[in-house]
Amino acid sequence: MKYIDEIPASELRGTRVLLRSDFNVPLNTAGEVADVFRLERGWQSVRYLSERGAKVIIISHIGRDPQESLQPIARALKTFGQVVFIPGLVSSVAREAVTTIQPGEIALLENLRSNPGETKNDPAFAAELASLADIYVDDAFAAAHRAHASIVGVAALLPHYGGLLIRDEVRELDAARIPQAPSFAILGGAKFETKAPLIQSLLNAYDHLFIAGALANDVFKAKGMEVGVSLISKELPSPDVLNNPRFLAPVDVTVERTDKQARTKKPQEVATDEKIVDIGPDSIALIAPLITQAKYILWNGPTGLYEGGYVSWTHAIAELISKAVENGAHAVIGGGDTIAAIQESGVPEDSLGFLSTGGGAMLEYLLKGTLPGIEALK
Ligand code: 3PG
Ligand code: MG
Repeated sequence: MKYIDEIPASELRGTRVLLRSDFNVPLNTAGEVADVFRLERGWQSVRYLSERGAKVIIISHIGRDPQESLQPIARALKTFGQVVFIPGLVSSVAREAVTTIQPGEIALLENLRSNPGETKNDPAFAAELASLADIYVDDAFAAAHRAHASIVGVAALLPHYGGLLIRDEVRELDAARIPQAPSFAILGGAKFETKAPLIQSLLNAYDHLFIAGALANDVFKAKGMEVGVSLISKELPSPDVLNNPRFLAPVDVTVERTDKQARTKKPQEVATDEKIVDIGPDSIALIAPLITQAKYILWNGPTGLYEGGYVSWTHAIAELISKAVENGAHAVIGGGDTIAAIQESGVPEDSLGFLSTGGGAMLEYLLKGTLPGIEALK
């Protein structure tokens, strides 16, 4: 794979670049961008290309509703630089815009998913996208697990390169697959059945794997404990996972009762009407020395129900990792809710190692070492 920093500057000047970014970011109730993390990360390639005189045509998806517009993203990008929003994709408006765009200028086209050909990887739609530009640059790491027209279809039709974000993500996640010892991994979130293969591979690669979030409920359930009205996956961990000496589960939990009061207790003490919503202080005490000693830390998924406001133990982990990084460890952290929780914690982002923009893409890359969007750039 070639990255954009390997293209001679003379070849970028005046060249129309179709830049696939992942600007799929959450919006607030006013319909404006609520979290600029992916915009900040994606901007480095936009700036790199624009500064070298490329005509930058950004394409991205937002949400899963084809009616959603990238207009709020265009507004938010104005704090980074001048971006012209084009209310079309392969329409005559878009065609007109890409013929008049000047070197160094930046245009953002409308939501890719407004065209049904995008998610179907329709060859005709890919060809239409490809006809807008001279070269294709993919920087949408967070969407690289999707074999869509703007990701794999178009790459086959134009000279193709990876962007600076894809370069960083691939380098960091390659290292995370063979971590330096002593290593420590934390995996939260839900749906054990989708994460079972990754759990197995992390148990092979890491000295310890701590399971949190709703995945921990599956561990308690598999051990025959009462889990009350907690979220449970369709599949439960097998005995060889549970008995693996590298496998660690919470030793206490925060439960919410029907009256919405929260308290911490031992997992064995959960009552039938209680819901497990987070880990507890004893679990932090269990993993604190392992985080402190680790040279390499991987983390994806908050420890508790983020949307319910259960973030204090997630924040505690961010603080521990920040101290470990200060003492020379390296950390790689990802997942939308994890990053959002960290941003609210007050722990400075730049004290936490590498923050991945990938959620599903990060987990799939960790498991497979590649993704459809990465293969398409080879
Ligand atoms: C993400 O946020 O995970 C990516 O942007 C991909 O979005 P999707 O899950 O809707 O395909
Ligand atoms: Mg190729």
